[in-house]
Amino acid sequence: MTTGQPSTSVKSVCEPLIDGFGRVHRSLRISVTDRCNIRCQYCMPAFGAEFLPNERLLSFDQFANFVRVLAPLGINDLRITGGEPLMRPNLEQLIKMLSTIEGIDDLAITTNGMFLTEQIQRLVDAGLQRINISLDTLRESTFRTLARRNGLHDVLSGIAATKQFPHMTVRLNALVLRDLNMDEIIPLAEFARAQSLPLRFIEFMPLDAERAWNKSRMVSGTEVRQMLASKFGPLNPVPRKDSSQPSIDYAFADGQGIVGFIDSVTQPFCTSCDRLRLTAEGKMRNCLFGQEEWDMAELLKQEHLDEQRLVERVRACVARKKAAHGMEAPGFQPPQRAMFQIGG
Ligand code: 5AD
Ligand code: SF4
Repeated sequence: MTTGQPSTSVKSVCEPLIDGFGRVHRSLRISVTDRCNIRCQYCMPAFGAEFLPNERLLSFDQFANFVRVLAPLGINDLRITGGEPLMRPNLEQLIKMLSTIEGIDDLAITTNGMFLTEQIQRLVDAGLQRINISLDTLRESTFRTLARRNGLHDVLSGIAATKQFPHMTVRLNALVLRDLNMDEIIPLAEFARAQSLPLRFIEFMPLDAERAWNKSRMVSGTEVRQMLASKFGPLNPVPRKDSSQPSIDYAFADGQGIVGFIDSVTQPFCTSCDRLRLTAEGKMRNCLFGQEEWDMAELLKQEHLDEQRLVERVRACVARKKAAHGMEAPGFQPPQRAMFQIGG
């Protein structure tokens, strides 16, 4: 039945997700598990990490229903995160469901790469387009200190496995801690250039479970750029593809390779942020650093999905988004959750 006039409810279901500062939201990061097989210092506690019981995780159908409701509102870019997303059994089934949702143009995963060798074929077959792999060191001993587990060999095998799929977009993400892997900046860049893979340096943010973040341990993007320029020659800025892209990219002086920087602490990109997040148990967040969450699970778990209420709740979440994360403001408090409980 149609009256020819869009009702208010139809409008509410179709209008874009614009916050109080005019930012249009197009990107959703979905954490599919808070579990991880390693314990990176910048994310997890060394001991006693508490994980959600399996029954509290959203099901693949519930994630897909959420995306089906958000896609018509302009969400077209999905990132699957964790914890370590490849620890969620049968993840390729979710990838398959998400990749066929109308309006989704970009589907990516952020992984530590350790399970890629065994899973990549299934993920590619399911429609995965992009993989971001964390690589902070090329030294096994440093990996063991940083991740508190062995496994660099598996990460490198995972990276190598992606080569069988040249149409996949693969990127390496590196996080530098001053006391741990500062001397790996040049080797990581050399490795990425040799592999023809773009490399991104991400500043250490106060989202570690142990609350041990301090500014002196963080290495700023500016410092990394200086080190790279003194080794490889001046870096040439590459124009941004779109204004919401958080990284600032540069080409190496010899034209061989791209290096990007996400300077979230020293040069926040909040003014152009278009991201929303859904945690593994179905809480929606409008900012990594936000203190508020909106419960989507309650609605997604009902037998008959009330789309209208879901959209209203999503809009409430978007409307409350603050102008900026305020990390530099006096009295700043990091969120209750650590990175593995939000999704990187
Ligand atoms: N600060 C910045 N980035 C982080 N990540 C995890 N913890 C932090 C943090 N405290 C990012 C890293 C990691 C990805 C999974 O999440 O880039 O590779
Ligand atoms: Fe695991 Fe990723 Fe956190 Fe490292 S950053 S402990 S790989 S979830």
